[in-house]
Amino acid sequence: MRCAQWLERAERIDREDGLQGLRQEFLLPDGVIYLDGNSLGPLTLRGLAHLERAIADWRRLGVGGWQGAEVPWFHLAETIGTMLSDIVGAEPGEVIATAQTTLNLHQILQTFYRPTGERHVVVTDALAFPSDLYAIAGHLKQRGLDVRRSLRLIASRDGRTLAADDVRDAIGDDVALAVLPGVLYRSGQLLPIGELTAAAHDHGALVAWDLSHAVGAVPLALHRDGADFGFFCTYKYLCGGPGAIGGLFVHRRHLPVRPGMAGWFSSDKARQFDMSAELEPSAGAGALQVGTPPILAAAPLLGSLEIYRKVGMDDVRRRSVRQTEFLEAMADDVLAELGFQVATPRSAHARGGHVALAHPEAARLSRALKDRGVVPDFRPPDVVRLGPHPLYTSFEEIARALAILREIVLQGEHLRYPQGREEVG
Ligand SMILES: Cc1ncc(COP(=O)(O)O)c(C=O)c1O
Repeated sequence: MRCAQWLERAERIDREDGLQGLRQEFLLPDGVIYLDGNSLGPLTLRGLAHLERAIADWRRLGVGGWQGAEVPWFHLAETIGTMLSDIVGAEPGEVIATAQTTLNLHQILQTFYRPTGERHVVVTDALAFPSDLYAIAGHLKQRGLDVRRSLRLIASRDGRTLAADDVRDAIGDDVALAVLPGVLYRSGQLLPIGELTAAAHDHGALVAWDLSHAVGAVPLALHRDGADFGFFCTYKYLCGGPGAIGGLFVHRRHLPVRPGMAGWFSSDKARQFDMSAELEPSAGAGALQVGTPPILAAAPLLGSLEIYRKVGMDDVRRRSVRQTEFLEAMADDVLAELGFQVATPRSAHARGGHVALAHPEAARLSRALKDRGVVPDFRPPDVVRLGPHPLYTSFEEIARALAILREIVLQGEHLRYPQGREEVG
């Protein structure tokens, strides 16, 4: 099939499996095919309304907003935590909206990593998001541990994915904590969270899952899977906005807990304003908050979570799998002959919500795509990452984006750009 036929097929799917008006909920950047919601999701109409309301509450009530706002600020982190629980499969009290992804990993390390002479190793993978690596290495150094001895990196056999056996082999009886990605940020591989958590537990190790690329894209069942901890951002699929508040899951078996990094927002809410010199921590994951939550950087999330609540994660996932299957099949048909390789696992069970297309010219191709009105992102060394979103991307947009990519290569449009790095994004 050639591009025109793929476009026809896409239009047919859109007619059968349409977004049923959901797209209108998203304020997408004008005039582009936005395939970078896996880096920064767009603003939602409801999110905008919540943000405007939070600002109006601030203007109207001043400090009174902590109790008197329509969604009282004092409880906002818990309110959002409860909404996030449905998305990550948590029980009441196990999720809190707080801080940011990397800070939440620091909090997990500070609170739950308790190295002993025999059990001191932190395992993560060689493909981990650099911020996680920096946090872990920095943390080990601060505790006076030798990073070469106490940090174990799981190697990737193909430079893109992790073999479950290699993850299992890395977690022995000397491991205190494994920090693993739910979905790998570059290749989009989805790891079996339940299976790997159980394997780690067999060796007495705890597991913290970085769910930044999984949350809002794949249904998670963190409580049922026995995950110890999960940390994630809300600005990708969940459309919380740039720098939006992060999310933190702590399994009930680790609660209540005294936070490693404590502050007055770690308090039991009923006691916080006692202003006692002794911290009485919240009984739930809220104990891992530190200071005042960023109300304005949390408000838009209320809106996108309402949309997710309407749709449900099973439908989100069903549509996402259909999108990535379509994208991969079309890429095989019209792009493979031009040097592209689908670098994302083929099985839906092992795939998150985005697809990585590997090509030696990925950096320049990403720039050319942007100039042709398609927003992907580039991840070094050779990946064009395409992130369709099940709630607003049409199949027709996916087909058009790939047809444009094919044209760019055939006409050598990317060769006009200087070699070098794509800008951050
Ligand atoms: C997988 C992963 N982990 C961690 C981070 C760091 O997130 P933050 O900047 O919110 O701390 C990111 C950011 O994109 C990410 O994609």
